[in-house]
Amino acid sequence: MTELLSIILAAGEGTRMRSALPKVLHPVGGLPLAAHVLHAATRAGSTAVTVVIGPNHEAIADDLQSRMPSVQFVSQTSRLGTGHAVREARAAFESATGNVVVLLGDAPLIGAKTISAVTELLDAGADIAVVGFDAADPTGYGRMLTSGDQLLAIREHKDASEEERAVTLCNSGIIGFKAETLRQVIDRIENKNAKGEFYLTDVIEIANADGRRVAYTRADESEVLGVNDRAQLAKAEAQFQDLRRDDFMKAGVTLKDPRTVYFSYDTEIAQDVVIEPNVVFGPGVKISEGAVIHAFSHIEGATIGAGVSVGPFARLRPGADLAEGAKVGNFVEVKNAKIGKGAKLPHLSYVGDAEVGAKANLGAGTITCNYDGVNKSKTVIGAGAFIGSNSSLVAPVTIGDGAYVASGSVITRDVAADDLAIARAKQENKPGYASKLRARAEAIKKSKTKG
Ligand code: UD1
Ligand code: CA
Repeated sequence: MTELLSIILAAGEGTRMRSALPKVLHPVGGLPLAAHVLHAATRAGSTAVTVVIGPNHEAIADDLQSRMPSVQFVSQTSRLGTGHAVREARAAFESATGNVVVLLGDAPLIGAKTISAVTELLDAGADIAVVGFDAADPTGYGRMLTSGDQLLAIREHKDASEEERAVTLCNSGIIGFKAETLRQVIDRIENKNAKGEFYLTDVIEIANADGRRVAYTRADESEVLGVNDRAQLAKAEAQFQDLRRDDFMKAGVTLKDPRTVYFSYDTEIAQDVVIEPNVVFGPGVKISEGAVIHAFSHIEGATIGAGVSVGPFARLRPGADLAEGAKVGNFVEVKNAKIGKGAKLPHLSYVGDAEVGAKANLGAGTITCNYDGVNKSKTVIGAGAFIGSNSSLVAPVTIGDGAYVASGSVITRDVAADDLAIARAKQENKPGYASKLRARAEAIKKSKTKG
């Protein structure tokens, strides 16, 4: 395979987002826009990536570097156009021998396949290859002027004639080059145009004048969607979610009402998992075969074993690790806790910083009291233990295998295996006392209404 360098343009101000966060760090499916582009580039085989960022955009560098340590950054201090931005990245392609593809940091849905289509055109002999799309409304985009399979020019909207504006094939902004060609054309771009910018798109006419082969391919408009404002961010999110839903259904996951289930970029779901309506996945979730996620559950950072049942109305937070056949029912929150095989937490519980043994049963309202306002402590519940309803387990505390905890207990000391712990006030019954109390209450009421 030919070596591939990707240059991601991300120096834009993103003013239309009206945000303190740089535009390309806004998430889609829980992943920053620019990180989507980075992932697509690496999936397409790009081993070297350079990102052009604006001044004061260290946050972008920090984020992307944490995902790909070898990624390089170039700061474009004055934003003089897409051609200028690529020029600023010269150090990256100065001695490159393979292909170079320019990507936009704010177009997150670009697929690796489309990038590969560009490199295939280059490997098949093109000097430059551009990804176009048929725009429903081409206003604002660069128009692609073609003759057969040769791209002759890209005319920016502001510089286009009436006749050129009628063209609906538009430039997505994704342009691939043979490294050698890029070096020969990039310095010849001028800024004599309506915006006074150095347009990268001008390289097309320059290359044609040199008699070079300039090819193009088409992508769906939805794949090259750019995010400039919050409405487009919402569109990109919707499009991303639709893609994930389709992927999962193709992979054998049942979604009862796909449009109400929201995935994260990294959600992993095995075959024959069933997901009911209104479920939201945060990052870091992995689900094994045959698990069922009931309606209205919120799940992040959780590992869910085969055949597990979650919800309805469950909340799994980071570190929830549910072994095969476990059951986490309604209004149960689990955080940083290992739940053993076949263990049951059917209703109204908080289980945090805990280990629950296989086949243990936690009654309704079981709470692990893991936090004293300063420190977090651990609760260990043994295999087959039975915790009566409405019990508080004050951590650090260990309940042995097979032990019983009586309902309503506040457990502050360890319970040995097979012991029964009762930690509540003893019940006392007073015969006939209820009617005496009632008579007294009625007398008080009467004395008040008289006065
Ligand atoms: C650009 C293309 C246009 C294409 C459209 C697709 C040019 C001249 N025009 O237009 O043909 O149809 O994208 O969306 O290339 N950027 C920098 N530094 C700069 C200027 C831009 O990093 O100095 C980055 C921006 O952050 C953005 C991208 O390059 O991610 C595109 O720039 P933008 O100004 O939005 O170009 P358009 O006018 O939309
Ligand atoms: Ca744009």
